[in-house]
Amino acid sequence: MKILRFADLAAQGLAKGKRVFIRADLNVPQDDAGRITEDTRIRASVPCIRMALDAGAAVMVTSHLGRPTEGAFKPEDSLAPVAARLAELLGREVPLKSNWVDGVDVAPGQVVLLENCRVNKGEKKNDETLSRTMAALCDIFVHDAFGTAHRAEASTYGIAQFAPVACAGPLLAAEIDAITKALANPKRPLVAIVAGSKVSTKLTILQSLAAKVDGLVVGGGIANTFMLAAGLKIGKSLAEPDLVDQAKAVIEAMKARGAEVPIPVDVVCAKTFAADAPATVKAATDVADDDLILDIGPKTAQLLAAKLLAAGTIVWNGPVGVFEFDAFAKGTETIARAIAQSSAFSIAGGGDTLAAIAKYGIEKDVGYISTGGGAFLEVLEGKTLPAFEVLQRRAQG
Ligand code: 3PG
Repeated sequence: MKILRFADLAAQGLAKGKRVFIRADLNVPQDDAGRITEDTRIRASVPCIRMALDAGAAVMVTSHLGRPTEGAFKPEDSLAPVAARLAELLGREVPLKSNWVDGVDVAPGQVVLLENCRVNKGEKKNDETLSRTMAALCDIFVHDAFGTAHRAEASTYGIAQFAPVACAGPLLAAEIDAITKALANPKRPLVAIVAGSKVSTKLTILQSLAAKVDGLVVGGGIANTFMLAAGLKIGKSLAEPDLVDQAKAVIEAMKARGAEVPIPVDVVCAKTFAADAPATVKAATDVADDDLILDIGPKTAQLLAAKLLAAGTIVWNGPVGVFEFDAFAKGTETIARAIAQSSAFSIAGGGDTLAAIAKYGIEKDVGYISTGGGAFLEVLEGKTLPAFEVLQRRAQG
């Protein structure tokens, strides 16, 4: 993908003394008291800010936080907790500026955090006047917010159209590179794991991947619907019987390409959905009417692990069982450990997947862990994200 990269501009000394506006995704979860409960996105945004400071730029950083009402700032919308965490990570003060759209006072070598950009009127609708006003604040616009790359808003898209220079920050560039390596130009076999409760929420992903991957591993409620499509009984397990035809179509599309959707040969069942419910391993053909399938069985897990070990590229979105309950976590653990051991390039994304990666401590063994939630899913759907589209267009001149 041909885009301008901020790292190249900085290395060539082109950011020195310049006003650099970084759109980061600092949208982190907080508890009821406003304390940050998970700071991955803030840590992932630090290299770009450091790069701009080291390059001698006057640095402005902004992000959205949550989904506030435009023009009606409330205390809980504030980036103040983010500013404090950023200051700790950077080891310097990070002043937080409100009402910044019409002018920001910042000198080269300084960094300021601009208050929640989604409170500005016109942000969500990518208003042209707001976009032009923000673009006028800077010499260089740096898009480093992969988590928001699927949104075309004033601070992610409009500003990129009108800023004198628009480029990708190191985080966005790393995400582009990892996605390209995994999906545009993969080492084969390419195996994708798509799991989750519903086929309906991931149908477009399944359809898009069915045209690309060599193996499509389904898990969770999605696998149950695929088991129905394969003529198996699933008792009272979560599934969407009205989507069985779509599941069959995915299986057929894969078969026609000589690829496969492995259907579980065994499963772990319980009679109730509870952490302490007794777990029983059953052949996939033996599921009783009152059974709930809560995980893949050990034989299935081993078969899938073998495919992952032999893969050239792995894309992982979603745990294959109810891994929050230890009795139903073994399938996801086996998959996670196989990904960690595999010499394949692996890319993982999505909230539950990241929680599973953290639970099994395999962060260092995954090729790339995406910071995107919805953005990662849209990439898997095969969509061109607005951030990539606008930066590519700007790179063409
Ligand atoms: C996310 O949390 O996925 C991103 O920050 C995007 O947030 P949004 O869905 O509110 O646009």
